[in-house]
Order: sequence, then structure tokens, then C-alpha cells
Amino acid sequence: MTLPQEQIDSLLDAAQEARTHAYTPYSHYQVGAALLTADGQVYGGCNIENAAYGPTNCAERTAFFQAVYDGHRAFTAIAVVAGEEPGFPCGVCRQVMAEFCKGDFIIITANADRTKVNISTFEELLPHAFGPKDLGR
Ligand code: THU
Repeated sequence: MTLPQEQIDSLLDAAQEARTHAYTPYSHYQVGAALLTADGQVYGGCNIENAAYGPTNCAERTAFFQAVYDGHRAFTAIAVVAGEEPGFPCGVCRQVMAEFCKGDFIIITANADRTKVNISTFEELLPHAFGPKDLGR
């Protein structure tokens, strides 16, 4: 499954806006995400850092957790906008995706000025994912 260019652009717009919410006093590396639910809603997320480092939450997970809190359980795509280069989701965020996303979930990554854009599927980024099916769910 692919997304129309118009939808990719609007998700990237939303991710860029979300990036302005980032709380990054330690890394100064700001990330914004925009998560598209299966029923067409968009949830933004930003990275939120912590002085103890470990509790830091990535932009992708912020978006997922807000959407799941609101009752969403099915997702179509996520756009992630970072700094000078596109940044792919970290392993922890990929595992959160494994909980809620199928292999054809679309991951769009871009740098801040959107001169570099990559489009991948979840299956490409985390093959053989451990997920709900492994626990019979
Ligand atoms: N970060 C994200 O928000 N998403 C990723 O996929 C990779 C890393 C954040 C976490 C931390 O605030 C900063 O980037 C540096 O690791």
C-alpha cells in the first residue's frame, strides 16, 4: 500500500509542526512525528527529554501513545522529521509499532527542510518482529 503524494505532504507538514514542540535541552536534536490512524486522523508527537536520560520519549512514541490513549488501535502511516538528515525510528519505537502496525505500515522520514525523504514499510524496518501474534493475540 502506498499513500497519495498529497497525504505524504500533509503528514510531513504535521510532523514539521510537531517538531516545534520538542523538549530537547540535552541533545538539542529535535524530532517531530505525525501518525495517521486507519480512520484518517493525525496525531502529532515530539521528543521529550529527561535529565535522567532514560525516561526520554521519542517523537514517534509520543504520537502513538496519544493516539492509543484516544482509543485508536490501527494505523496507516507515520512521518518523522528530524534535523540535517532524516532519522529512522529507533528500535524501541519500532517495537511499539510492532504492537499496533502491520507489515505494510508506511514510515516516511525526512530531514528538516524536506530535501531528503525516504519511504519504507514497517516490514522493511523490522522484519520478523516479535508482536501480539507471538502471544496468541
Ligand atoms: N529520537 C526520536 O525522537 N526519535 C527517534 O527515532 C530517534 C531519537 C530522539 C530521542 C532523543 O530526544 C534525541 O532524539 C536524541 O536521541
